[in-house]
Amino acid sequence: MSLLKRIQDRDCTVGIIGLGYVGLPLAAELAKAGFHVTGFDVDAWKVAELNAGRSYIPDVPTAELAEVVKSGHFKATTDMAGLAEMDCIDIAVPTPLRKTKDPDMSYVVQAVEAVKKHLKKGQLVSLESTTYPGTTDELVKPMLEETGLKAGKDFYLVFSPERVDPANPQYLTKDIPKVVGGIDKESTEIGCALYGAVVTRTVPVSSTVVAEMAKLLENTFRSVNIGMVNELALMCHRMKIDVWEVIDAAKTKPFGFMPFYPGPGLGGHCIPIDPFYLSWKARQSGFEARFIELAGQVNSSMPEWVVSRVADALNSVKKAVNGSRVHVYGIAYKKNVGDMRESPALDVIEHLLRRGATVTYSDPFVPTLTLDGHTFTAVTTQDALAAKPDCVVITTDHDVFDYAELVKQASLIMDARNALKTFSGAHIHRL
Ligand SMILES: NC(=O)c1ccc[n+]([C@@H]2O[C@H](COP(=O)([O-])OP(=O)(O)OC[C@H]3O[C@@H](n4cnc5c(N)ncnc54)[C@H](O)[C@@H]3O)[C@@H](O)[C@H]2O)c1
Repeated sequence: MSLLKRIQDRDCTVGIIGLGYVGLPLAAELAKAGFHVTGFDVDAWKVAELNAGRSYIPDVPTAELAEVVKSGHFKATTDMAGLAEMDCIDIAVPTPLRKTKDPDMSYVVQAVEAVKKHLKKGQLVSLESTTYPGTTDELVKPMLEETGLKAGKDFYLVFSPERVDPANPQYLTKDIPKVVGGIDKESTEIGCALYGAVVTRTVPVSSTVVAEMAKLLENTFRSVNIGMVNELALMCHRMKIDVWEVIDAAKTKPFGFMPFYPGPGLGGHCIPIDPFYLSWKARQSGFEARFIELAGQVNSSMPEWVVSRVADALNSVKKAVNGSRVHVYGIAYKKNVGDMRESPALDVIEHLLRRGATVTYSDPFVPTLTLDGHTFTAVTTQDALAAKPDCVVITTDHDVFDYAELVKQASLIMDARNALKTFSGAHIHRL
């Protein structure tokens, strides 16, 4: 029976390589839809937890995971040999940057090596990791074809980017349309059939490179607009204009405007990283991606700007950063998650330490933190405020923080997120 028909009948096995923020929600959706899903991960702790029915990702409730483990629709393993049993294989491993800001493709290469070892006729291979345009065609396809099997003839190959927005209850994996670009029409059709079983809508495109580029356009759009609004915040500060009020006014325009907000800088595994995959690739064609570079410069200067505003705030009460006790509210890169990859709060802390401050932090999602060889342990906001810090900096606006209590008790606050929008007081400083 054809793979397409077996996908339609849910009579096929799906392997997901990489059970992280992207891979696990997708695996759970496919398992709930009736596929037999095996998750492959190099992290034995994650594999053991997931097989015990415990989810470590808030967007995948433990009860839902336990259900699909119990029904036999989901299991996890570190043993890549099981890839040979899979009809469809989805690769969702990390794509970070090297220190030089060049793509680090080592995880993708390692995952594709594993697929290659077990590649079978008739399988669908889908790359989901965000990457530079050309990866599927120039890197993945030739590697898999070293087996002697031919893409399009012996196996199907697609690129289908993930758009998950962790901790956004309005848009879970299943609610977000999924772009699918195959190396040929049949691959695209099979890819759409698989993902179409679990997402509201699939968007077939004419090639893998269009799908790769579409994902980078989405993330570059965010990076550039956030860079622009961060620069506007710096400009408004110089001109003594309230940037937050300006944005609130501008966003009443019902068309042609979309609000972006300034902050302490970019974080997470996507927005600070992905645009550099694109500028790196463009450079190989002799093209300088100027917006990407400029937005990168502005966005990465924001943590230091926040610290200079802390210095101004302390200065206003005749104190120096050096020797002051500064308490940081929020380590995660965005509200209501525990993910601190690339979080600007980490840079804010480093700059504060470099200037001689004593730093403590609160974050209910990040119990401990190691930075520059120091290990910090989170303190509760109650204990932090009772210790009367010289200044509090809000770097992540988690909903669980009691902002009214903060405004009441703290003597000086630097709010880098406009979390105190509804409060006023001479002790509150905003970005
Ligand atoms: N996190 C997001 O919000 C998000 C959104 C859209 C796209 N993406 C993209 O999706 C991809 C995955 O991101 P993520 O956030 O899920 O990463 P993650 O770090 O949360 O998860 C990746 C998983 O892959 C595993 N892994 C690494 N190498 C492996 C290998 N060789 N074989 C098997 N497993 C391996 C890791 O142990 C980890 O569990 C990246 O390319 C990212 O840019 C992420």
